[in-house]
Amino acid sequence: MCELVISGRRCLCGEVDIQGSKNAALPILAATLLTDKECVIHNCPRITDVEAAVEILRGLGARVSVDENTVCVCAANIDSNVIPKNLMERMRSSVMFLGAVLGRAGEAIICRPGGCRLGDRPIDMHINSLRRLGAKIEEAGDCIVCHLTETRSENITLLYPSVGATENIMLMCAASGSSVRIFNAAREPEIVDLQNFLNLMGARICGAGTDCIIIRPAGKFGGAEYTVMPDRIVASTYSYAVSACGGEAYLRGAEIEHMKLVFEVLKQVGTEVIKEDEGVRIAAFGRPKSLNMIKTLPYPGFPTDVQPFLSAALTIADGESRVCETIFNSRFGYTEDLKKMGAVIDGDNHTIEIKGVPALHGANVEAKDLRGGAALVIAAAAAEGITVVSNVEYINRGYENIERDLTRLGADILRI
Ligand code: EPZ
Repeated sequence: MCELVISGRRCLCGEVDIQGSKNAALPILAATLLTDKECVIHNCPRITDVEAAVEILRGLGARVSVDENTVCVCAANIDSNVIPKNLMERMRSSVMFLGAVLGRAGEAIICRPGGCRLGDRPIDMHINSLRRLGAKIEEAGDCIVCHLTETRSENITLLYPSVGATENIMLMCAASGSSVRIFNAAREPEIVDLQNFLNLMGARICGAGTDCIIIRPAGKFGGAEYTVMPDRIVASTYSYAVSACGGEAYLRGAEIEHMKLVFEVLKQVGTEVIKEDEGVRIAAFGRPKSLNMIKTLPYPGFPTDVQPFLSAALTIADGESRVCETIFNSRFGYTEDLKKMGAVIDGDNHTIEIKGVPALHGANVEAKDLRGGAALVIAAAAAEGITVVSNVEYINRGYENIERDLTRLGADILRI
């Protein structure tokens, strides 16, 4: 079990390259199943969730080679439609393969997906939407057996703009002969990336990035070569680390368009955000300002994935702040560990009140999920003394090398 040992209270100054987006790369890798030609995906982050996606592709019979950040997939000989339980349980995105395997093979056998424990994470919207579109889906305990006997042209309205459900519908229907409209679709930039890749393969999809996505009948898909967008959540991680520690950092590759509310909140806590040619410069001096109230919302609202990083910075703000989590029903697990570092936090699974203190102190803390773990690293970099963050395997799911990146910014952080 790896641990990160961090000696805090150092300003962060320097430059860091922002890795490719985990949440764009994963559905795009699933989409490579929709053609028997070779696909080349560049700027794929080297993270354990991508490793799991590669294992799923290989388990289905695809030929996959990985060279640094480039993944080549040839799904000419798909000889299975079963995704084994041990792989399904490694990450939430494994459910993305349901739509892709159904779109390719017409039948799929999966188990319930795993992923970070952020509260209930049902897949009812995925199942109900795919059923509406012609999939016969039987749930037997943990196992889900799906057959696509016909693909219907339908209008699907999501009760909630679910990212995964939106992507699963796109993956199952992109290569079919049906016309589908998705209303109340999720609007995340990663969905635009998926649409761009699918269209490069031969799909006829428009509207991604808005709440109405239109999928039109398409011919046989060809291969495609594509570069994944930058990871806005990783860029947000380092932005809030600078806000908490003070200093100035250049985030090369960060796409300001994807992070409007993230940067607006940063400005409101007193951090400067300057757009430059190929990235964004973040500068902060002194303690962050407190925030009367911030609420996480579906994109383009303030992202739930950035909520832990903001809370970490607000623990040393110069006043009281309130953070409301509206997307997941248990995403404040990391606050127990922040309290071990001297943070003053009260509240419940929906809203927390943070009373800013002048400084946190080092402690032994445990990552309990991917972004909560990254928030503990931010707090440790800002705290006085030494902090040991354990269960770093959670952080490896979404960060290529968090200690490499933060060391480039001047942090004193070691992986043991
Ligand atoms: C995606 O998860 C991201 N993961 C999450 O990032 C992100 O937090 C989330 O979107 C919200 O932006 C990937 O893209 C791989 P949802 P997803 O479906 O698709 C409920 C990270 O750290 N819901 O939009 O699972 C669900 O329980 C991860 O990178 C249902 O009730 O998110 C949740 O409360 C964490 N039924 C809410 O909707 C369903 O069928 C949002 O879920 C589907 C979802």
